[in-house]
Amino acid sequence: MPKILRATAEANPNIAIIKYWGKRDEKLILPMQGSNSVTLDEQLKTRTTVMFSDKFRQDEIWINNKQLTTPEELEKVMPQLNIIREMAKIRLKAKVVSYSVTPVAGGLAGSAAGLAAVAYAATNALGMNLSISELSVLCRLGSGSACRSVYGGFAEWKRGEKADGSDSFAVQIADEKHWPDFRIVVGVAESGEKKVKSRAGMKHTVANSILYSKRLEYLPKVLKESKDAILKKDASRLFEIAMRDSNDMHATMHDTWPPIMYLNDASKEVIYAIHELNQNGIKAGYSFDAGPNPTIFTLDKHVAEVKKILENAGIKKMFVSNVGSGPKILKDEIEHLIDENGNIRKHSFDEKKNMLVIEY
Ligand code: DP6
Repeated sequence: MPKILRATAEANPNIAIIKYWGKRDEKLILPMQGSNSVTLDEQLKTRTTVMFSDKFRQDEIWINNKQLTTPEELEKVMPQLNIIREMAKIRLKAKVVSYSVTPVAGGLAGSAAGLAAVAYAATNALGMNLSISELSVLCRLGSGSACRSVYGGFAEWKRGEKADGSDSFAVQIADEKHWPDFRIVVGVAESGEKKVKSRAGMKHTVANSILYSKRLEYLPKVLKESKDAILKKDASRLFEIAMRDSNDMHATMHDTWPPIMYLNDASKEVIYAIHELNQNGIKAGYSFDAGPNPTIFTLDKHVAEVKKILENAGIKKMFVSNVGSGPKILKDEIEHLIDENGNIRKHSFDEKKNMLVIEY
């Protein structure tokens, strides 16, 4: 019997502390600047099974039980798959089945976990033996932020200098055990598709924002300072840097023409309320990606107050996450989303049990 080229991986999303916003190379996904992040725990993970087979006539990509068909939907995963095939010197078609608990494309870092899981599952299915830096590069070639999800804990994506991107990958700042009482409260204000996808939004910003060049000037300094604050577990310092960086990134978006505005009234209410909390000695910092969903960095002892703030702003759905771990490969037959014959196993998320249920 021929060998089954199939593997399943799980990866967790990461939330940027110093944000990546802008590319210097669109094709290779090379950033204008470095960025850093914290990896979330398993509550928002993505599981992906990739299988290559000569039985498949075409590539098939499924996310949350929906097949991706349009070029726009496929723009991240196809280049990544093609590069992996090229590296492995194969031409077999692939089936990719992914389930993400993260509301996809709602500004909730879904693509980071998704593309990291594809890179891990595909390279594992083909028996490729890659270093973590090489894996980070492959994740980056799917979606920039995904390259930081190869590490648990805190990671920094190095800008790199080389034109081929071989030195633009993530390194770990500290692992998931480093800061046990660090919490990330993720509010889901909206889980629908965003109006302007981050890829288009950042391109527009680089081309049109007057403030953007100032952002590039200040980033190297805060990248160093935030790394130092992470290593020293200096929450007040880190949260202030995070809030300022989120505000700065959104300022450059507002500064484009026509402007891009991702924040809504609930987001703004959260911003004011967190500053008020800070004045009362509570350590918490907000951060917004390309969407209105607030992410609040805080410490375990302040989670209740932070949750109250989000509830008062009308945000009912939220996740309280610990610092999470890096991707893993699942080996048990029952865990694959595709069976040995290449058929997709029925699967869905059971909200009550809080787990992915696979029909086997
Ligand atoms: C605001 O990584 O989704 O979340 O590289 O074009 O796929 P592409 O963009 P993506 O952008 C993330 C932007 C951000 C900031 C961040 O995560 O650093």
